[in-house]
Amino acid sequence: MKAYELRTESGVTTLSMVERAQPVAGRGEVVVRMRAASLNYRDLIISKAPRSAPLIPLCDGAGEVVEAGPGVSDIKAGDRVAGTYFQDWVSGPLNPGVLRTVLGQNIDGVLAEYVALKEHGVVRVPAHLSFEEAATLPCAALTAWQALVTEGRIKAGDTVVVMGTGGVSIFALQFALMCGARVIATTGTDSKLERLRALGAAAVINYKTTPEWDKTVLELTGGVGADHIVEVGGAGTLPRSLRAVRHGGFVSLIGVLGGAGEKFSPGSIILKGVRLQGIFVGSREMFEDMNRAIALSAMRPVVDRTYQFEEAAAALAFLESGRHFGKICIRV
Ligand SMILES: NC(=O)c1ccc[n+]([C@@H]2O[C@H](COP(=O)([O-])OP(=O)(O)OC[C@H]3O[C@@H](n4cnc5c(N)ncnc54)[C@H](OP(=O)(O)O)[C@@H]3O)[C@@H](O)[C@H]2O)c1
Repeated sequence: MKAYELRTESGVTTLSMVERAQPVAGRGEVVVRMRAASLNYRDLIISKAPRSAPLIPLCDGAGEVVEAGPGVSDIKAGDRVAGTYFQDWVSGPLNPGVLRTVLGQNIDGVLAEYVALKEHGVVRVPAHLSFEEAATLPCAALTAWQALVTEGRIKAGDTVVVMGTGGVSIFALQFALMCGARVIATTGTDSKLERLRALGAAAVINYKTTPEWDKTVLELTGGVGADHIVEVGGAGTLPRSLRAVRHGGFVSLIGVLGGAGEKFSPGSIILKGVRLQGIFVGSREMFEDMNRAIALSAMRPVVDRTYQFEEAAAALAFLESGRHFGKICIRV
């Protein structure tokens, strides 16, 4: 079968298409004929990092099950599934053991024609989604879901701030609307403002031309602040997020896009009683909850562009350009 491998030689990591043996389903495993994969910001970092052994990249993929190994009881051949980001995080809180089971990071990922996954490492995907759409769910969508729904306990009427127009933020916008919340969306690109409005953002802010976007959020909320901030900027944006959130509001710490930031004091977290929560993708149980909500609401992920299998390097380059809106997919 065809697959991609990341391999480090003379200190340089490269991505190339290779021939590998087609996997066979072991005990408790299923083999998935991958039909689509999707990119995340982390794949850019992983594609440049030095490796001691070759690795099939990407954590996000969907396809159909072609073989179920001995001991597999629930998933069967023909099921349309996506792999879970952490192969071993089934339910309950995050634990150190599952950190070693990340697709396309410590174990081979999904950018291949066939992939063997644990039965508990796949979930059935909503029937109305194409394979490309389903491939966007395992990382970005689940992260946004855990942030707003599982941990954030979002309510109708809440105000949610989402930052930029990458995968996590666009899913956060869609889930917030699904739950009856109002969305204030930011972007650093003027041409994306209209697309955010068209998706349902009640207000949009260009964080480059309005660097003090936290003040705009306060104005838009009558001086109170937002109920939720989906924080993908990290140190570079956290001080503003803490100014833009309401007393008792929720800041989900997800990403590091904003680089180094101003010095900030934890005092505001205490004085405002802010809930600050680290979010790391999510468990299989959260994935199933999210899929039920996506199916019921007929929500469709926003796929900016789909590349052919031979164009994986071009897909990564497009992600790096930051010109995308939502998700980038690769057809397998
Ligand atoms: N903790 C987790 O479980 C988890 C899971 C997934 C992702 N992440 C992290 O979350 C972040 C986003 O990931 P992603 O896959 O959604 O990324 P992505 O699709 O590559 O999105 C990048 C977009 O973010 C926006 N952006 C860039 N710099 C920004 C800044 N300083 N402030 C606000 N927005 C900015 C830009 O949109 P505009 O052009 O609109 O400005 C850019 O296109 C990354 O740091 C990633 O590592 C964490």
